[in-house]
Formats: sequence, structure tokens, C-alpha cells
Amino acid sequence: MSSAGRAEPLGPPSSFAKRLLVTGGAGFIASHVIVSLVEDYPNYMIINLDKLDYCASLKNLETISNKQNYKFIQGDICNSHFVKLLFETEKIDIVLHFAAQTHVDLSFVRAFEFTYVNVYGTHVLVSAAHEARVEKFIYVSTDEVYGGSLDKEFDESSPKQPTNPYSYWERYKFPAVITRSSNVYGPHQYPEKVYSTCASIVYFSKFCIHGSGLQTRNFLYATDVVEAFLTVLKKGKPGEIYNIGTNFEMSVLQLAKELIQLIKETSSESEMETWVDYVNDRPTNDMRYPMKSEKIQGLGWRPKVPWKEGIKKTIDWYRENFHNWKNAEKALEPFPVQPPFV
Ligand SMILES: NC(=O)c1ccc[n+]([C@@H]2O[C@H](COP(=O)([O-])OP(=O)(O)OC[C@H]3O[C@@H](n4cnc5c(N)ncnc54)[C@H](O)[C@@H]3O)[C@@H](O)[C@H]2O)c1
Repeated sequence: MSSAGRAEPLGPPSSFAKRLLVTGGAGFIASHVIVSLVEDYPNYMIINLDKLDYCASLKNLETISNKQNYKFIQGDICNSHFVKLLFETEKIDIVLHFAAQTHVDLSFVRAFEFTYVNVYGTHVLVSAAHEARVEKFIYVSTDEVYGGSLDKEFDESSPKQPTNPYSYWERYKFPAVITRSSNVYGPHQYPEKVYSTCASIVYFSKFCIHGSGLQTRNFLYATDVVEAFLTVLKKGKPGEIYNIGTNFEMSVLQLAKELIQLIKETSSESEMETWVDYVNDRPTNDMRYPMKSEKIQGLGWRPKVPWKEGIKKTIDWYRENFHNWKNAEKALEPFPVQPPFV
């Protein structure tokens, strides 16, 4: 990889310098990562493995789909025979693992499916990658593994739930690098999550707030997270964990108001209230996830995109691209799991 992170001369397909497997590449974050990798590293072959779940969209990848250094393979990370074969035939050097079940609300009602994909599927992938002797395996985790905290900031050694491939590092010195990121917002995200809920306001539904809305979250723009992953790809040390965080923090209620103000062009409190729908809180809903990110900053990474700029780009994108997903409107329907939690 060039130190500047820019294009190098394109060789014939057989002479790619590295072959990268990106799982979940038709989803929100990994689609940004793939576009950036394919464009900036033409000497790397980027293989996108995705089962095309409801939240995936190949439209997110239209700009690079015909490039010589990109290949899409539809498949399931839980299918161990298929995954093993893929590592054998594609000669993978590096893995960036994003594929997961990710919608927190659904995790309460479809817990087994979440465990199956996020734990068993990750295990299948780690095991195949270990057998294939990959040189680096980047496992994309989340700040939520630390649990909630009002004031104590988490660093990478804070206690966490053991649902990751870390033990492979301990036992085999498997070259796993784990990232734990704050909330990411930006184009390409299926419109069911709070950060993309601007889609629902644009499309005449309301902004749905769980409980009081006083929970705060830290928000990172998608391209900043892409840069964090590229930094970890180049400089992250096997066996290490890196928080990808930001000091930019906002309550969900404040987020709702800002979005309504921008999209509906109103600052009248009473009009804003008409666009908010308060629903019962989730069974658990942490108040904050404060994290320290000095470690990745030590590798030279800093978030760059200010909120005002990022949110404007996000809203503009949803205005034009909302129909990228089949059944996108379904994501905006009132969520069916509310009543049991009353
Ligand atoms: N979005 C955020 O704010 C955020 C913050 C921190 C960490 N993360 C983590 O980043 C990762 C990606 O998140 P996202 O928001 O881009 O998710 P997403 O839901 O938009 O995309 C997930 C992708 O994985 C694919 N997938 C699901 N199950 C699969 C399987 N069995 N086999 C193959 N592909 C499968 C889906 O088709 C989809 O394209 C997740 O691990 C998530 O926990 C996300």
C-alpha cells in the first residue's frame, strides 16, 4: 500500500499486490469502505462477500461495480463449506469483516438469528481465515460492547462481552485487529436506524424517539470512519483493539430537532413537536457510550467532517436515493415489537 494512500499503476488481474475480502460490502459502512479501496488502491483486488439481506443495496456500489479490481460474491458467512472454498479459490490476504445483523431493535426479538450471524458467522470466518493464514483480519465491532456509562470513558482494555474472535489471537497469534466505533451516519444506510431517520422525515413520516430521547450518542461521518479503517489496515497492529470515537456528542432529542429544523425548515418548537413520535423505550437503552480514542489518534487518524457539513450531505443523499432499497418504505413503518415492552 502506498504511504500516501493513493493510486498505484494498475497491473493485470493476476498480479494484484493484495487480495482483500470485505464482508457485508453491500451494507452501509462497508460500501463506503469498498468504494474508497477500489478507487484508491487499483493494485488491490477487492472481493465483496454479502448475502444481500433486506438492508443491503448493490446501488451503493454502482460507481465501482465494473472496475477490474472489484468482484461481488453473493453468499452467507455462516456457510462454512462455502467460506472455506472462497478462501481457497480467492487466495485472500486480508479480511475486513463488517457483515452482521445490526438493527438493535430487531436484536431483542430475533436474538438467535443475531447470535447465529454475529457470533457463529464470525467464528466461521475467523476459522477459515486462520486456516488460510491471512496476514490481517480486521473485525469491526462497536462501542456497544462496553455497555453504557454516564461518565467513565472506556478505553480498549475496559471490560467487554466476549463475542469476538479475540481468543484466536491469544491461542494462535491469529492476526486479528478489532475496531470499536461510535455511531456512524451518512449516505447508504438502510432507513430504519436513528441516524438515517432523516429519511423518514423527508418522506412524511415522523421521527421516532425511544423513551425520553435524553440518551446521548457520538456521531461520526462515514468518510471519517473509512479513513479510520484505512489507517488500521495500514498501521494497526495484530492483537490490538482500536476505538474509533469522536467528542461530538448529541442527545437523540437534540438530533431529532436538528434534523427537523434542517429538513422542514422550521425552528418553531410547537411545529417541531408535531414531527416527533415518542414510543416506549427499548428493554435496555444505554444513556451514553463515552470512549477514548487516543490509541487510533496515535496512528495519525482524526475525524475531519463537521456535523453541519456531514448532515447536509446525508439529507441531500436521502432526498435523491431513498428508493435504492426494495421496500424502503417498510423500514419507516411503526415497529412491531413495541407492544410487548409496554
Ligand atoms: N452503523 C453504525 O453506526 C455502526 C457503529 C459501530 C459499529 N458498527 C458495526 O459495523 C458493521 C457494519 O454495520 P452497518 O451499519 O454497515 O450494517 P448494515 O446492516 O448496513 O450492513 C450489514 C451487511 O451485512 C450483510 N450480511 C448480514 N448477514 C450476513 C451473512 N450472514 N452473510 C453475509 N452478509 C451478511 C447484509 O446483507 C448487509 O449488507 C457491524 O458489525 C456493526 O455492528 C456500525
